Amino acid sequence: MRKIILSVFALLIAVTMGFAQSSSSPIIVKSPSGNLELIFSLKEGVPYYSLKRKDLVVVKESRLGFILKNAEALDKDFSIQNATQKEIDENWTPVWGEERTIRNNTKTLNVELVEKTGAQRKLNIVFHLFDDGLGFRYEFPIQPNMKHFVVAKELTQFNLGRNDEAFWIPGDYDSNEYLYKKTRLSEVDAWGTPILSYGTREDNIPDQNAVQTPLMLKADNGLYINIHEAGLLNYPAMQLHVDKKDFNLSADLVPDAVGNMAYLRTPAKTPWRTIIVSDKATDILSSKIILNLNEPSKVQNTSWIKPIKFVGVWWEMQTGKTSWNYTNNLDVLDKNGNHIPNGVHAANTNNVKKYIDFASKHGINSVLVEGWNTGWEEWVGNRAEENFDFVTPYPDFDVKEIQKYAASKGVQMMMHNETGGSATNYDRLLDTAYTFMNKFGYTSVKTGYVGPIIPTKEHHDGQWMVNHYTRVAEVAAKHQVMVNMHESVRPTGLHRTYPNWVANEAGRGNEWNAFTFGSPPAHETILPFTRLMGGPMDYTPGIFKMRNYASQDSDRQMHTTLAKQLALYVTMSSPLQMAADLPENYEAHLDAFQFIKDVALDWDKSIYLEAEPGEYVTVTRKAKNTENWFIGAITNEKARDTKINLSFLNKGQKYLATIYKDGKNADWKTNPEAYQIEKFIVTNNSNLNIRLANGGGAAISLTPVTSSTAVKNIKVLKK
Ligand code: NOJ
Ligand code: CA
Repeated sequence: MRKIILSVFALLIAVTMGFAQSSSSPIIVKSPSGNLELIFSLKEGVPYYSLKRKDLVVVKESRLGFILKNAEALDKDFSIQNATQKEIDENWTPVWGEERTIRNNTKTLNVELVEKTGAQRKLNIVFHLFDDGLGFRYEFPIQPNMKHFVVAKELTQFNLGRNDEAFWIPGDYDSNEYLYKKTRLSEVDAWGTPILSYGTREDNIPDQNAVQTPLMLKADNGLYINIHEAGLLNYPAMQLHVDKKDFNLSADLVPDAVGNMAYLRTPAKTPWRTIIVSDKATDILSSKIILNLNEPSKVQNTSWIKPIKFVGVWWEMQTGKTSWNYTNNLDVLDKNGNHIPNGVHAANTNNVKKYIDFASKHGINSVLVEGWNTGWEEWVGNRAEENFDFVTPYPDFDVKEIQKYAASKGVQMMMHNETGGSATNYDRLLDTAYTFMNKFGYTSVKTGYVGPIIPTKEHHDGQWMVNHYTRVAEVAAKHQVMVNMHESVRPTGLHRTYPNWVANEAGRGNEWNAFTFGSPPAHETILPFTRLMGGPMDYTPGIFKMRNYASQDSDRQMHTTLAKQLALYVTMSSPLQMAADLPENYEAHLDAFQFIKDVALDWDKSIYLEAEPGEYVTVTRKAKNTENWFIGAITNEKARDTKINLSFLNKGQKYLATIYKDGKNADWKTNPEAYQIEKFIVTNNSNLNIRLANGGGAAISLTPVTSSTAVKNIKVLKK
């Protein structure tokens, strides 16, 4: 029966039970298979919800409502005017992603509240209860006594009542580029982490007890719980204030320049608050709640949206070899009135052509060039609002020549628009910038917001900037350009609505290993449970030269082995993946580079085989429209023996398994570049027993053996 339901593309079962209820008896909703239970209640006019999983409490009775500016709080004196329940069961097809089709099976409850006295304002709370979690949001319907309003505080609570173990980063209003800490909630200390230089502590992290979402929790009762949000539009990002006595987490919105949270006008909706829960860590990673709660694509024709594998004129700057700048001194001119080149400007026509050649030779479809345009000498920290114009190249970068050359080599160009945080300037120039991309053949863009935001005192994660990012995605879609945003707010599944918004950074990427002390080996095992819950990350994996980057600091290095760098292409699913290292470092290891060439970016199916936040992740994915599978397995700083059961393969079919694994004495710190490549013939009865080194990993490709597969001398793997 289930199969029949699933095979129908979009089947909607809607059982609507409308009823008027003014009593205060709780409303209980069970998830489709009954393992989650939501309880909504009004207690003396104050709305509360709680969530149970089987016999375990996930979230205790938690408050809902708002404090408004210059108006009565919207949090009490309510009665239920109407409450409707229905079940949705439908399948939908994302433009790209981890699955070919996604099932949205949920029980919904729409509670319409009205104030009993005074202005009799209305507030709706909509719940979607899935088998693996809950989403809920507030809706402010059109009504006589409420039109324009300002949110001063959202009162939503997530009352855990347990001192859970948490994977958290500080509640910074401007950055997510932190190392995750694993502590009990009672030990959260947002000020104990080095502050990023986007302002003062008062500006950036005013609350010592605030953390960001996605927040990953592990309770002593065996539950894994993830709290985040979905569909963040026209509203600030939600952070969580941790009450260390009762472990009642409460929403903390990112304020605007004058301390207000959100400016809304009825009809209005907040983003969804999400609680994903399971007794298996792997279920957290495979949950599709956040995507299901987002709106379908607003981009009608999506045929131009294609996964992107790219190399870039980039790592050489990150590692200190060359520069974004054209000149070392803007104030010194030669006798012809021109700037004097510094001799290490990377984005020059000849150098860019080398990357285009490399991409073309190896079937990498795009090339990113950073530092091609004027403005890099004074781009950060000067509050120079109009520093970049996004269209003027440096004298040594020939836009037309690059366009011609790339086209002749069948390679696409990725634009780079760093704003230095000046969003007002970018807003004004959006059409100019994207028209320029169209004219010169750029099909995608990496944007960036390093530094404090202009308008002054606005935050990267506030409502103003959230609306800015959405505008960028919309303008880009109009120009048929795919976007990868750096230093933006962290994603909330909006790539369903804007499938051209293919990735974000909004987290601590691989680049931190080049220019700082880096991130420990556990980092990549935490990211899937935190940053990646809302959408893909431009993590920039694929570094092969693991050490000694910046000339000034010889201990800078990757905190992984080389094989783990390969595994990241599978453990961190994204339709946009960089082969981040320099061409010469790939030329030195073409056998290992083969995996980066082969690995898919878009999938029919993903199966998380084993995972534990902070420890390990093993996932297998079937490449879209093929019978090829890829596996990524990673560990933290501890070595690990993993046994991968290949029962997901087609029965009776032989596959060629190519295994890229850590070399015998590999170790992320002492011997990171040691790797081994093995090939075996396998079937769905085979098991792969693989040792992952300290900070190591393994990447595996599996392709069906056909008459043309070269199988001479390749052993059949015994069970
Ligand atoms: C920070 C980004 O994360 C990095 O990738 C980029 O190269 C620099 N900003 C310059 O835009
Ligand atoms: Ca960054």
